[in-house]
Amino acid sequence: MSPETQPAILTIDDDQSVRESLANFLEDFGFEVLQAGDGEEGLEVFAAHRPDLVLVDLRMPRMDGLQVLARVRETAPEIPIMVVSGAGDIRDVVEALRRGAWDYLVKPIQDMNILLHSVQTCLDRARLLRQNREYQKSLEESLEKLHRTQKEMIHSAKMAALGDLVAGVAHEVNTPIGVCVTASSFLSERTRQLRELYEKGEMKRSDLEKYLALAEESSASVLTNLERAAELVQSFKKVAADQSSEEKRVFDLRSYLEQILVSLRPQFKRTPHTVHVDCPEGLTLDSYPGAIMQIMTNLVMNSLVHGFSDGLPGEILIKVESVGDDVALSYRDTGVGMDKEQRERIYDPFYTTKRGSGGTGLGMNIVYNLVTQTLKGSILLETAPGQGAVFLLTLPRDPDKVEAVQA
Ligand SMILES: Nc1ncnc2c1ncn2[C@@H]1O[C@H](COP(=O)(O)OP(=O)(O)O)[C@@H](O)[C@H]1O
Ligand SMILES: [Mg+2]
Repeated sequence: MSPETQPAILTIDDDQSVRESLANFLEDFGFEVLQAGDGEEGLEVFAAHRPDLVLVDLRMPRMDGLQVLARVRETAPEIPIMVVSGAGDIRDVVEALRRGAWDYLVKPIQDMNILLHSVQTCLDRARLLRQNREYQKSLEESLEKLHRTQKEMIHSAKMAALGDLVAGVAHEVNTPIGVCVTASSFLSERTRQLRELYEKGEMKRSDLEKYLALAEESSASVLTNLERAAELVQSFKKVAADQSSEEKRVFDLRSYLEQILVSLRPQFKRTPHTVHVDCPEGLTLDSYPGAIMQIMTNLVMNSLVHGFSDGLPGEILIKVESVGDDVALSYRDTGVGMDKEQRERIYDPFYTTKRGSGGTGLGMNIVYNLVTQTLKGSILLETAPGQGAVFLLTLPRDPDKVEAVQA
């Protein structure tokens, strides 16, 4: 069946003279012709030689043409099969075409050129079909490869991000730990000196007073810095935590948001700032409430710490709408807003404009990962200096019902 060899044609007919005239004619055009005298023999020859085309008579003893057709279609649907029938069998011809014959010819064949034309058309069509299938197969393979590569890329990007995160944590934790090491080694050196004076009986009251002041100062510094380190490790744990292990359940979004705000109320105490929720009643999600809690807490704390840093009374408005299978949640504050660099780097781990005064730069990175990975949603930021900040979140009501290209 390879293109270099002659196409082989099997002709099945109980009339030997018909078979022979077909064979003679087709052989002149370079085809190899196989013959069979009835359906059963035809199928045997077919199985043994796998011809490129079958010409079959309809009325034959033992097994008729329609049965041959059915068997060939079943075992080799890609092989063209043509019906050659007597003029009176037109109903059978229609039936044969319905069952998958590629073409038909009426016996006796008056014009052999018509036969030749049909045979060539069928062979060409079969070849095109074969090529088409091969293209399709290779297309499917490349697509499959593409999906694999994509998954690998997502995975390696995740690993790279994790690597950055680990390097960042090490770097960040290094500073407070370094301060602690310096402070405590200084303290231990001074303690040794004081003990020396004391043991020699040379310790003066002023030595002790100096020492006490120093001890107070260094232990306070050690404490602050260890707290800072612990806080960093804590945030890091949150980032690295396997968010998928978090509990998923059905909950009412409005009452849940209100509950979150209650827990954040102490943060608003003794500030002039306010917060409002505008969410339709009865809007339920089958999602991860813990993730939403973390996201809202980070957004609110950021508004308080960064947005309202100019001391003017600020407002936060959380507005929720149902959009098809998603909820659209907009979070808006009337704070100082952000410049281009802040807007572009806000989700980078360790990006903070409050380094040295409590910022870790991990909050919005956590928010981003929770929104996109745990909740399978998206987050957009609109902001400009002096214009406040608006975060637009789109969250599927059920993250499991989202089809995504995810690793
Ligand atoms: N609501 C906001 N208004 C103004 N700036 C913000 C707001 N939210 C975040 N930012 C900016 O984005 C940075 C990163 O935020 P985040 O990741 O939470 O880290 P952190 O709060 O520890 O600084 C902040 O340092 C701040 O510059
Ligand atoms: Mg923050």
